[in-house]
Amino acid sequence: MALLRCAVMVLLCVFHSASATVVAAMDYGGVPLWINRLLGEPSVLSLQGRMDPAWFRANNPQACPQQCDCPIQWTTALYCDHRGLADIPDNLPDRTQYLFLQGNNISSLSSSMLANITGLRWLILDHNQLQSDNLDQAVLQNQTQLYYLFANHNHLSSVPSELPAGLKQLRLAYNQISSISPGAFQNLHNLTVLLLQGNRLQTITKGDLKGVVSLNLLDLRENLFSSIPRHLPPSVQQLYLSNNSLSGLDNDSFVGFFNLKYLRLRRCGLQSSGIQPQVFNLSSLVELDLSYNKLTTIPTVPTTLQYLYLEANEIQEFNVTSFCREVGPLSYSRMKILRLDGNKMSYEQLPSDWVFCLRVIEHIYVSTQN
Ligand SMILES: *[C@@H]1O[C@H](CO)[C@@H](O)[C@H](O)[C@H]1NC(C)=O
Ligand SMILES: *[C@@H]1O[C@H](CO)[C@@H](O)[C@H](O)[C@H]1NC(C)=O
Ligand SMILES: *[C@@H]1O[C@H](CO)[C@@H](O)[C@H](O)[C@H]1NC(C)=O
Ligand SMILES: *[C@@H]1O[C@H](CO)[C@@H](O)[C@H](O)[C@H]1NC(C)=O
Ligand SMILES: *[C@@H]1O[C@H](CO)[C@@H](O)[C@H](O)[C@H]1NC(C)=O
Ligand SMILES: *[C@@H]1O[C@H](CO)[C@@H](O)[C@H](O)[C@H]1NC(C)=O
Ligand SMILES: *[C@@H]1O[C@H](CO)[C@@H](O)[C@H](O)[C@H]1NC(C)=O
Ligand SMILES: *[C@@H]1O[C@H](CO)[C@@H](O)[C@H](O)[C@H]1NC(C)=O
Repeated sequence: MALLRCAVMVLLCVFHSASATVVAAMDYGGVPLWINRLLGEPSVLSLQGRMDPAWFRANNPQACPQQCDCPIQWTTALYCDHRGLADIPDNLPDRTQYLFLQGNNISSLSSSMLANITGLRWLILDHNQLQSDNLDQAVLQNQTQLYYLFANHNHLSSVPSELPAGLKQLRLAYNQISSISPGAFQNLHNLTVLLLQGNRLQTITKGDLKGVVSLNLLDLRENLFSSIPRHLPPSVQQLYLSNNSLSGLDNDSFVGFFNLKYLRLRRCGLQSSGIQPQVFNLSSLVELDLSYNKLTTIPTVPTTLQYLYLEANEIQEFNVTSFCREVGPLSYSRMKILRLDGNKMSYEQLPSDWVFCLRVIEHIYVSTQN
């Protein structure tokens, strides 16, 4: 039963945050395509195994580079993924707007490679061998329509500079990025999604993210931060910092984040003594993940919080004051899902008054005494 409930909860939770990730810009050249709504990600990234490339080649009257597949229904897309390519194919047609190059062996980008096309909207370079030293900084200079640049799982050591100003999503997860080039982000006023998880960032300096005024999702999981980085853009709604070894949370760690809704601090080695009591005093907060830490008490959270994940800590006590400063007709916790399983307390330890505070709870997960 417990397992079943967990599964349901995980689904709910994934869906909830995913719905916030889905970006309004669903322009696939006007073609109705299959959208993976759970991931907020168009599942158009590869044609492999879904359509017969020979059929396109035989039926498509338009030019198509030999190393690519060009679907007839989506004439602006070029699928050149998973071919072992060492370079971007030559003679890309002018019509190219969506260029899929993931899963190749591309290690460098020179500015002449994209010189003949100017309407690029998506450039997908995940799972290649890109190195920062081999990137010509000017390569994307003229791509004023470029909205999505994906280069996850490469060997980049810094965030490229001279990115086009219209960029909406920049995905650079799982590289070896330890620094952000000065001014890399200064013109990116439309950037809403920035993925940098799985890199080697230790700090964010004052100018690093200056200019990203529209950022909604910032993923910094699995980096080398030892405290909550300063100088993050205050527009952020989803901030993911799980899998960093954080020494603690100061009471001003999140001051000024008036839009922060989803905060993930799973597996950060956090201890209750290192968490200042007012740190989560953020009325915008909807979901807080503190699971797999070393907390011994439940931190004070705002009454507006709806999802709190505290599983796999060392919590021994349950004090209603963590959730409610006072209990009255209008003052109660809006908590819907509370996970306390895998701690050192049991259901029998919940004080009798918890139901007056956690009045709208839908699921509470807590071990029963055995
Ligand atoms: C990728 O390129 C390297 C040399 O640049 C080569 O040794 C390797 O075999 C290539 N891998 C594939 C899958 O083509
Ligand atoms: C760009 O176009 C010119 C003239 O058609 C051609 O010679 C050149 O090879 C093209 N470059 C690329 C990278 O396709
Ligand atoms: C960008 O456009 C300018 C002006 O047309 C041109 O001089 C420059 O070479 C172009 N850069 C790239 C990387 O294609
Ligand atoms: C940013 O988005 C706005 C609104 O969609 C648009 O008008 C503007 O041109 C975009 N900026 C750039 C540099 O593309
Ligand atoms: C975090 O670390 C755990 C344990 O090492 C690992 O299983 C998990 O994949 C990591 N998750 C992320 C998002 O980094
Ligand atoms: C943060 O905590 C320190 C003591 O730990 C206190 O002096 C300071 O006033 C607090 N700041 C805020 C904004 O609560
Ligand atoms: C929480 O923050 C609000 C304003 O954001 C402030 O008025 C209130 O005093 C804070 N609560 C505590 C207990 O510090
Ligand atoms: C709960 O916490 C409040 C404030 O920290 C404290 O005064 C009270 O004694 C605690 N109650 C229990 C049962 O520990």
